[in-house]
Amino acid sequence: MADPEPHIAQKSPIKVRLEAGKTYYWCACGHSKNQPWCDGSHRGGPFRPLAYVADADGEKWFCACKHTATKPLCDGTHRKL
Ligand code: FES
Repeated sequence: MADPEPHIAQKSPIKVRLEAGKTYYWCACGHSKNQPWCDGSHRGGPFRPLAYVADADGEKWFCACKHTATKPLCDGTHRKL
């Protein structure tokens, strides 16, 4: 059976300022209203959020098209959707 397709929240990544050691929960289903983070909207569906622990303070681009191969970070896939 094919993997379920996530919803495309938007076709561009979201820049986030991270704190070292903090855990973030990335929305994998694409339905959260609080992108790129999980807000519980996945309930009842096949997706679960992905925990991401920041290894350093700084900014990173998180995937919002939900089709990246380097979850939860953007790999440019949104340009091909
Ligand atoms: S709301 Fe999308 S994974 Fe939780």
